[in-house]
Amino acid sequence: MEKINTENDLSLTIQELSNAYEELSLLYRISEVFSFLSVDEICSRIVSEAVTTIGVKTAAVLFLDEDGTKLCTETGIGSWDKKREFIRDSGILWKSIDSKRPSAFCKLKETEHRDYLPGLSSLMVCPIVGKLKTLGAVVVADKESEEEFYSKDSKLLMTIAAQAGLAIENAFLYNELEALLIGAIRSLVKALEASSQWTAGHTERVTEYAVGIGRVMGLESETVEKLKISALLHDIGKIATPKEILNKNCKLDELEWIEIKKHPGLGAEILEELKQFKDIILTIKYHHEHWDGERGIFGLKEEEIPFMARILAVADTFDALTSDRPYRKRKSKEDAIKEIVSCTGTQFDPEVVASFLKWAEHFSLQH
Ligand SMILES: [Fe+2]
Repeated sequence: MEKINTENDLSLTIQELSNAYEELSLLYRISEVFSFLSVDEICSRIVSEAVTTIGVKTAAVLFLDEDGTKLCTETGIGSWDKKREFIRDSGILWKSIDSKRPSAFCKLKETEHRDYLPGLSSLMVCPIVGKLKTLGAVVVADKESEEEFYSKDSKLLMTIAAQAGLAIENAFLYNELEALLIGAIRSLVKALEASSQWTAGHTERVTEYAVGIGRVMGLESETVEKLKISALLHDIGKIATPKEILNKNCKLDELEWIEIKKHPGLGAEILEELKQFKDIILTIKYHHEHWDGERGIFGLKEEEIPFMARILAVADTFDALTSDRPYRKRKSKEDAIKEIVSCTGTQFDPEVVASFLKWAEHFSLQH
């Protein structure tokens, strides 16, 4: 009973997390300039935007550390030293951070700040403030025109910093929520695997293999992320499979196979409320389809089978063949690869098998 409650609680947590994830995904998508970018990409865009709109030779983004005592360079171009960091003091960067206002300085070489920022003639700094806290600062230095900074430059820098603040904060939150969601899914899957001695570790291995094949195929990072969640959840429908079947120590009979074959459909039903998981649900539902349309569960064939499901099918079979089962010993990696190759064009998509072979070469070098 307790275990079922744990599974229910985890399902609820996943539902809540995925709702929050959806809202953030939306925010992330609509942010005008920096949509769909990683933190690194956002920072690179900020410096290049600062260079072109303000007309400077040098620009950098600095992040504040956790306890707010150090500013470290995240991205820098021009003559900015990328290893530059500033411990909290009364210097000009910190004054701007603390006042949450931009500041400009000219003729630096003639002032007491020359040792603080060696090599720069003029500089303007603006704090990057998110909704929750100050995240760091964007710095521009030395105009192409050799002029000083004017108030219109400071307004431009404030606009860039304001956009940057929202985009960086959203990207951080997005990453955190994604990690939480994946963590909750992993716990749910562990609860499932604990109920069968034969499936321990299966999910994590299938996830590793599917992601490896997906990367060889050149999938975009967003698709790889979906493939990863699909792989982590691919056998979730087995929650509803009678435990005595999952734990059986000998070959299954025909009726028991019918029960086992329900798990892809059940998995899709369990997750159907998660609207933003549409592709993931279809991948799970069709991960036991055969390329030629014969002997699959739903009778889909070739391109009708979702692309990620075709990858998952190969990854899943490779792990099944290289793991012990109650009715047979595991095969060597070489024999498992041969068996997968022999099913190319019948059970498996030839394009996926070609990428699987490339991945397997790399994989056997590492393991
Ligand atoms: Fe499965």
